[in-house]
Amino acid sequence: MKQMEDKVVLITGAAQGIGFATAKAFAEAGALVALADFDKDLVNKAADQLRAGGYKTLAIVCDVSDDAQVKAMVDKTVETFGRLDAAYNNAGIQNVLADAADQTREDFDKVIGVNLRGEWSCMKYELQQMKKQGNGAIVNCSSIGGILGGAQRGTYHAAKHGVIGLTKSAALEYASKGIRINSICPGIIHTPMLDGMLNSGQTEVIDAMLKSVPAGRLGRSEEIANAVLWLCSDASSFVIGHTLVVDGGYSIQ
Ligand code: NAI
Repeated sequence: MKQMEDKVVLITGAAQGIGFATAKAFAEAGALVALADFDKDLVNKAADQLRAGGYKTLAIVCDVSDDAQVKAMVDKTVETFGRLDAAYNNAGIQNVLADAADQTREDFDKVIGVNLRGEWSCMKYELQQMKKQGNGAIVNCSSIGGILGGAQRGTYHAAKHGVIGLTKSAALEYASKGIRINSICPGIIHTPMLDGMLNSGQTEVIDAMLKSVPAGRLGRSEEIANAVLWLCSDASSFVIGHTLVVDGGYSIQ
């Protein structure tokens, strides 16, 4: 029997990058996978790609910064697959690089709205379903930006620090109710988000960061996916409120 045989998982930001790799890992582990993303064409393509491999998938268009869409996303998953065993709240965006004195209110609201309030909203509606079932596992996506500072990245880092606080607090509330909630902190992972940073002229900063990765290379999306899979599986049944750093050793220096 496969590790996640017939389990139902919901993944946000699943159209590409880490989210898609995680959807693929869960599908290969036997799960029924709801892929959610605000990019309609990309998420349909991603779900079709997995379906072509013989896996059961569902594509949902959802902007996680909109509570009504988040509620509808959870409802659609449960209507289609009957329950919700696991969720990976992964959707996230970068902030516009700027010193604190120059950051705009608009960018602050946008980044916090997706990276922090979006994860809060996803977790809230997922928990409403998992409470009814009396079980479930949730992983929230933080970052090494959730445990370290980053010049010109204050809003992103604030949101990612916040995710860890939300995770630990909710984990306490549901630990005795059969629901485990953990967070993951990816290091520098090669995804379209990283390509976007390189294309926007952040090559020098990324190169400098890479020189400080003890593993000596970029991480792969599959390496985050495997960690999320473990956190959602029974193999981690006593792991609660944990912040799992997967960064090639970057943050231990
Ligand atoms: P990506 O940009 O390659 O993919 C993110 C996906 O989220 C895209 O498909 C995008 O359409 C979707 N998305 C963005 N805003 C959304 C919204 N409001 N509602 C629904 N979907 C939305 O990003 P990547 O690199 O795969 O990152 C995934 C997560 O991992 C993010 O939360 C990011 O902050 C985090 N992370 C990434 C790192 C990296 O080095 N790539 C490092 C640490 C954390």
